[in-house]
Amino acid sequence: MKIAPSILSADFANLERDVRLVEEAGADYIHIDAMDGNFVENLTLGPNVVKAIRPYTKLPLDCHLMVQSPEKFIPAFAKAGADIITIHVEATNHIHGAIQMIKNENIAAGVVINPGTSVDAIKPVLQDVDMVLVMTVNPGFGGQSFIASTVEKIRELAELRTQKGYHYEIEVDGGITHDTIVACRQAGADVFVAGSYIYDDENPEAAINRLKDACRN
Ligand code: DX5
Ligand code: ZN
Repeated sequence: MKIAPSILSADFANLERDVRLVEEAGADYIHIDAMDGNFVENLTLGPNVVKAIRPYTKLPLDCHLMVQSPEKFIPAFAKAGADIITIHVEATNHIHGAIQMIKNENIAAGVVINPGTSVDAIKPVLQDVDMVLVMTVNPGFGGQSFIASTVEKIRELAELRTQKGYHYEIEVDGGITHDTIVACRQAGADVFVAGSYIYDDENPEAAINRLKDACRN
């Protein structure tokens, strides 16, 4: 299993410190939430932030694009140093083409589904992706409560992967705690994004360890 701290909950005035902190604490990816004020009701981080933190960590930069028409932004994120780009199926009319665009940049490509979107919506591209991100909250803000009805979709994706021999990682994002992580892990998730659970803790390393321990039990 992998832990991907979301820097949405980090201190933006001390991003270098907060990125190094979670790397030293055993994080596996750095999760970067890009929001455009259109696809979701919030404005956050763009390619300039990816470029700024790139020199300060060796960890893969996992860029989650909550933007309408992600095709417009893929080249800039790739150039800035993204290692993984995930895009929402709800945000483009051309999900297949947009996935190919990411792959043509020679970086890992992922597709994301909102809590109200079924696995059926992404079946045609599952053979092409390196990651499937199942949103476990409605995107837009950190610190929201986990939506339990999403767990069934994790299970479905894990079963499809085995049946069809697909190779994607299953990532979950939103409301992940030492408690909610257990059902996600049991259903087959591999990568766990956590923002407020890690960065709001006075000891982020202990929070990361609690997440890892919860998956072992
Ligand atoms: C939500 C973002 C998440 C967010 C998670 O729209 O995609 O990555 O930072 O925050 P927590 O872990 O606090 O729910
Ligand atoms: Zn995210």
